[in-house]
Amino acid sequence: MVSKSRIILLATFVIVTNLVSFYFGKFSRFFSDYLRFLPCGAIMDASASSDFIPKPVGLDAPFPYMLRGSPLQATASEPLTLSNDIPIVDPHVGHKKVLVTGGAGFIGSHVAYALLDRGDSVVVVDEMNDYYDVKIKEANLKLLQEKSDSMNGDGGHLAIYLGDINNQTLMREVFEVESPEWICHLAARAGVRPSIQNPLLYVQANVQGTTNILEYSREYKVRNVVMASSSSVYGESQSTFFSESEDVNEPVSPYAATKRSGELIAYSYHHLYGLNITNLRFFTVYGPRGRPDMAPYKFISSVSSGKTIEQYGDGSTSRDYTYIDDIVDGVIRSIDRAYPYQIFNLGKGSGTKLSEFIALVEKHVGKKANIKLLPEQPGDVPFTNADVSKASRYLGYKSKISTDEGIKKTVAWFESMLGEVASNQWAEQ
Ligand SMILES: NC(=O)c1ccc[n+]([C@@H]2O[C@H](COP(=O)([O-])OP(=O)(O)OC[C@H]3O[C@@H](n4cnc5c(N)ncnc54)[C@H](O)[C@@H]3O)[C@@H](O)[C@H]2O)c1
Repeated sequence: MVSKSRIILLATFVIVTNLVSFYFGKFSRFFSDYLRFLPCGAIMDASASSDFIPKPVGLDAPFPYMLRGSPLQATASEPLTLSNDIPIVDPHVGHKKVLVTGGAGFIGSHVAYALLDRGDSVVVVDEMNDYYDVKIKEANLKLLQEKSDSMNGDGGHLAIYLGDINNQTLMREVFEVESPEWICHLAARAGVRPSIQNPLLYVQANVQGTTNILEYSREYKVRNVVMASSSSVYGESQSTFFSESEDVNEPVSPYAATKRSGELIAYSYHHLYGLNITNLRFFTVYGPRGRPDMAPYKFISSVSSGKTIEQYGDGSTSRDYTYIDDIVDGVIRSIDRAYPYQIFNLGKGSGTKLSEFIALVEKHVGKKANIKLLPEQPGDVPFTNADVSKASRYLGYKSKISTDEGIKKTVAWFESMLGEVASNQWAEQ
């Protein structure tokens, strides 16, 4: 027979050891998580020395960036809430020298212009390829040069290098001579359909070229790299609003695959070298000086000139058309905020059906469209719709231009250009 006092003693021992192990487990888990989490959450002081190297963070926890197993990571039954989020990085203020790759292109020339306008220095690298008429790119560079000249020594210095971002001699010279600390990497082969015809060209420019930019960024210890990704990485996602936390492992075109590859190689550079990198997934960008291969320009120029519009599908496909000024605002907000590694959607935040888009073009051009219906094209996605809540919270981004207003502004620009060389190039595409 075991005495009553022995039973009480044994029970007390069991309870105490369980309590100790429970609290010790929690305590040690708390510390290990805290110590692992702390460097990831550290705000990068953009004014701090550029050789500060943040610790790697977990790729599979896209946002907030936390390591697997952290008590702060959401589970299926416990969705991520903003109370769990990362510190917001304050914007760096003051003069910057920004390398804008693809600066002669549509988005690049707008970003470079806005940077010059606020007094920053800009270094453009562009190979001026003939994906669309080179005269348009030359006109863009002329505009930038005029803007820089008009700054009268009040900041806004511009340097232009013409060549391929894969050219080692050129890129070494750019980094040696210019020492840019901020990179806005927009150079790429864009366009879904041509990527199906010539995938190797896309891999060379978008994957190899991006890796080369990251190599120099690491070697020269730049402070922040902002890179263009694309909504095309969402493929045929069935979500109503595409979110950065979705799986994007099924790209439906080589173009989309190269853009996703860029995000992944960028992560490895962040992981290995602590490079600060933000990937921006742009949603169908349009506006003045826009790409003539894209539907908005084809529609505006065709409706203006009475030419037939080739409409792929029945008009029910929908795109999150984003006006260029909103994109430029989001890009510059990202350049200023050196997040360790992030992916942000930049879009308007709502879709517009193709048929509605064409109706708005008709309204602002003041003519009816002649439409020829064609089947859907391989590689095209049925709809895109951006969830921009993350960019809103962490970049302070908010799109301001409605599709109606954006088309009105674009048509006004198009008509103001009629008769000038550049507009002819746009209209002829
Ligand atoms: N326009 C959109 O709707 C959209 C949507 C999603 C993503 N993007 C991305 O945004 C970025 C800019 O797109 P955009 O619409 O301004 O295109 P764009 O074609 O007008 O500009 C790209 C520029 O990069 C240059 N370039 C291409 N390959 C190069 C190389 N190897 N070396 C040097 N320069 C090179 C081109 O000459 C061009 O001037 C691209 O990365 C594109 O993939 C654009």
